[in-house]
Parts: sequence; C-alpha cells; structure tokens
Amino acid sequence: MKTIHIGLLGCGNIGSGVTKLLGEMSASIRESYQYELVLKSILVRDLTKQRPEYVDTALLTADKDKVLRDPEICYVVECLGGEHPSTEWMCEALRAGKHVITANKMALALHWRELHEASEAGHATLYYEAAVGGAMPIIKILNDSLQANRIDKLTAIINGTTNYLLTRMTDEGLDYLDVLKDAQALGLAEPDPTADVEGEDAMYKLSILASLAFHQHLPVSAIEREGVTHITQDDIRNARELGYHIKLLAHATNTAEGMDAYVSPMLVPIMHPLSSVNGAFNAVFLHGHACGDMMIYGRGAGSAPTAGAMVSDLINAILQTADDQSPQKLARENEDPVPMMSDRVSAFYIRLSAQDATGVLAHVAASLSSHQIGVKALLQPVERAKEGAQITILTHPASEKSVRAAIAAFDKELVRVMNVLRVEAPVV
Ligand code: HSE
Repeated sequence: MKTIHIGLLGCGNIGSGVTKLLGEMSASIRESYQYELVLKSILVRDLTKQRPEYVDTALLTADKDKVLRDPEICYVVECLGGEHPSTEWMCEALRAGKHVITANKMALALHWRELHEASEAGHATLYYEAAVGGAMPIIKILNDSLQANRIDKLTAIINGTTNYLLTRMTDEGLDYLDVLKDAQALGLAEPDPTADVEGEDAMYKLSILASLAFHQHLPVSAIEREGVTHITQDDIRNARELGYHIKLLAHATNTAEGMDAYVSPMLVPIMHPLSSVNGAFNAVFLHGHACGDMMIYGRGAGSAPTAGAMVSDLINAILQTADDQSPQKLARENEDPVPMMSDRVSAFYIRLSAQDATGVLAHVAASLSSHQIGVKALLQPVERAKEGAQITILTHPASEKSVRAAIAAFDKELVRVMNVLRVEAPVV
C-alpha cells in the first residue's frame, strides 16, 4: 500500500465537494489500486468560517506553504478560482514538481504559456478537465480520443448560467431581467453575473478548447465576444417563428483561410443537436476529418459535477505518476501569432423598428441587395406593430463585413436597428 499525500488550495463550494468525494472514493481506490489517499492540508482564507461536516477542520491552514512547500504533498488540487494568486501558486507547485489539478479556466486561458512552462520546468503535469464543461470529459476527448483527427470546427454551449437564462426565456416567455433575478434568488446565477452574461466565462473556455482542438494557442485576445444582455422576448419569439432557438455559442473554426473564434448569442436551427441543450447543461459539437460530427453533453457546473471531474483527474494523475515519476507530456501548442480569417460568412437575423411608411421596406431591401445580401425570410407581425413596424429579416449566408456595411447604410430616420445576431448553419 502506497500513501499519497494531497494538498487542497481553497475550500469553497468546489473544494468542499472535492473533500466529500475523496472521502467517498478512498476505499474503492485503496481496494482497486493499493493507494491510500491522504488529504494532508487545506488552505483557506478564513479559519473561523463554518464548513460542511465532511470537511476535517483539523486540516485547515491559512499558510499556503503548508501545501506548496510540504515535500510529502505531490498532488495539489487548486479550487481557489480567479486569476491571482491562483496562477502564481499553481506555477510554484508545478515548479516544485507537484502535479496540479485545477478547474480554473481564467488562469489557464490568461496564463497558458506560464503554466505550461512551469509544468515543464518542474516535470510535473497540469490536469484541467474540470475547467471546461464540468463533468463533461471534453479535455480528455480532445487530448486523447481525437488525436488522429484534424478538427476544423467546434461549436459549444459552455456557459450553464446563460443557457439556463435563455432556456427559461424561451420556455416561459419571461424577460431577461426577470429570469436573471429569479436565477440569482435560486443561487443559479452569481450575485454579480457579469462574467457569465457578458460571455467572458465562455471566452476563457473557448480559448482552452480551441487551443487543444487546433494545436495552436488561441489567446483570448483573438476571440470576439458578445453577451446575452440585449436579447429580448421579441428576439426569442421571432427566432422561434423562424424555426430557431437562441443560444450563447462559443464558436471556433480552423480553415485554410485562417482561424476564427467568437462567443455570441446565435440563432440555432431547431433541428440542430445544440438546440435541444437546455437549462444549465453544456455541450460541445465538433467536426473532425476522421470522426465526422460528434457531440459531447453533460453538466457544466455545480459542486458535485466539477468535483467529480477534479477527483477523476487526481486519480488519473496518481495512476500516471505515483510509481513512475515521468509525468504525462503536455501537448505543445504552436505559439506563433494566430492567422485569423479576415471576414466570416453566416446568415444573419436583423430586427428593425421602422416607420410604417411607404418605401421603408424597399429601402431596407435595396440596401441589402446592393451589398449582395439575399433575404431568406421576413416577419412583420401586425399584432406587434406597437409604434410603427417591427420588421425581422433572416438573410441568406453573406459576408459579415457586407452585412455590417448594409446595416450602417440604413437611413436612421426611417429604420432603427434593434438587434443583429448570427445564425448557426444547419447540420448537413
Ligand atoms: N459560471 C459557469 C457557468 C460555471 O455558468 O457555466 C463555471 O464554469
């Protein structure tokens, strides 16, 4: 029987979930693998705070060195979150030869190179399955199972909070702010929801996924980002009438023309597999030259799903390194500047509020057609003609630059642009 000492950084929602799961799993790990897992120290900010009964308070310390400098601790589970000091402490642990398990997508996305260099310097491995998609094993799938694939497209729902908000807006006809308040009261959205609703969380996760999928580091600075705060009940209803659901998608493509990556709310065809991913669930839909289309689906957040991914990483780390100290080799992504696509092509949804006057529609149609943009569908519901006309246009696929130029050329006296959203292509 070999004893394995583990240190924990942070004991909030996820950290305490890790201690609970470690307690639950240790007997079967002992039996299956002859390893005795011992949680030795837990770093916390506040020693006096009330903890769940399954947290052994005798292990709590406010001294980070009790984890980072203890030579017996070979595995550090980082559950602090945020950029600092998590990044520095993970680097310190890695350089000291300790394997690190983290769910910290922000630290990974913003400090990818530093963390990888620290890992190489200390001959220690960084495990981060829980950073994207919670319980959904997408990192392992990209790193291991799809090694023989050239992945050219990845489209994902990787923020549970926004997917929950949009699902309830769709199912219950509620306005964005009402659903948000309710979700906050239920503890399903953060008191400060900015990172989720402005697409930052999804942007960090997309940077990690695209870097692994394309073997080319995709920094967050290369990702365009738009959140969901401007999505109204009108948009949800229009989308449904046109045969779509609105989802916050994280999108990355890698083609001969370059890479493209963005996070934005999009109209997803009702027949697309991502359209039926509802509530706080996450999914990644990708295309590889050998595997074709594939979708991975699961719980993207929450204490147990995230702790489950972290403890699984910990067990994998122990199995890979406890007896033979040669760590798993981290893939080295190309660090050259990313060649980005100069334009993109997609269909667009354009919602307008216009004067109900002769020639308005002709003006809009003329501007679109002079920019080579075809109209696929048009809605002008009589019952929603509050003041003037509510016109919604669905275009055929067109150059995004042309669509932006056509919209900029609309006469502002006649037409007000209320919302413009990209439309995801159907799966063929
Ligand atoms: N806040 C994230 C979400 C969960 O709503 O999906 C943690 O990554």
